[in-house]
Amino acid sequence: MIDVKNLRKSYQTQDKTVEILKGINIHVNPGDFMIIMGESGSGKTTFLNCVSGFDTIDEGSIEIGGTKLNEIKGKALEQLRLHQFGFIFQDNYLIDNLTILENVAITRLQYDAKAYDKAMELLKKVHIDHLKDNYPSQVSGGEKQRCAIARALVNEPKILFADEPTAALDRQTADEIMNILSELNKQGQTILMVTHSPRIAAYGTRMVFVESGVFECDEAFTGDDLEANYQRVMEITER
Ligand SMILES: Nc1ncnc2c1ncn2[C@@H]1O[C@H](COP(=O)(O)OP(=O)(O)OP(=O)(O)O)[C@@H](O)[C@H]1O
Ligand SMILES: [Mg+2]
Repeated sequence: MIDVKNLRKSYQTQDKTVEILKGINIHVNPGDFMIIMGESGSGKTTFLNCVSGFDTIDEGSIEIGGTKLNEIKGKALEQLRLHQFGFIFQDNYLIDNLTILENVAITRLQYDAKAYDKAMELLKKVHIDHLKDNYPSQVSGGEKQRCAIARALVNEPKILFADEPTAALDRQTADEIMNILSELNKQGQTILMVTHSPRIAAYGTRMVFVESGVFECDEAFTGDDLEANYQRVMEITER
């Protein structure tokens, strides 16, 4: 599904080049719920940005379902991103003057006359269909993030990217959001998620840890047991 080979990425500042990713190799399988951990500044967001075509890479290759990302540009890249990828961030980036329903439907309206039906179906899935006519300022933080999940799913993406989606939420709300993501994953949704929290990481099915520009470990969790997964994450992050 995603095949990353020898991915290298550096950033240019005033007088020097800083290497962030120094040869990442990873194969993501359909149905993986992959957790990406690592210190602040280690390159987790950079990795997601490269794999999702937001950012260019210096070396290596990224293949998504057989398409090489560095071989497509402009409109083709835009279309790939629209139809294959969904995104959730720490901040929800909802559009203030659109309703919850409109926020979810908007990117589907350009090609589907039934976009609002699809949006409603997803609002039901994340249990905020009763809030469809509210504006973002009229719903809670957790409800906004549910809306952001529905919006990320509206084009039926093959891959859902989530960059610290629960970082701005309280513990209980974060668990509610993680239960939704876990449920989606059990229905087959492939997810790549960054988090700093071992408790949140435990919801994944597989975990990588970024250190010194490479993936230091690649661990498959054995099952659904949150406590066991949490213990394993703690062992990995503390060594
Ligand atoms: N556009 C840019 N130009 C220059 N440096 C950048 C740019 N984007 C990121 N960096 C640097 O690259 C490094 C990795 O950044 P990145 O955002 O990927 O880290 P992260 O692991 O996501 O950290 P955090 O956990 O704090 O979100 C940081 O040192 C950052 O300052
Ligand atoms: Mg980041």
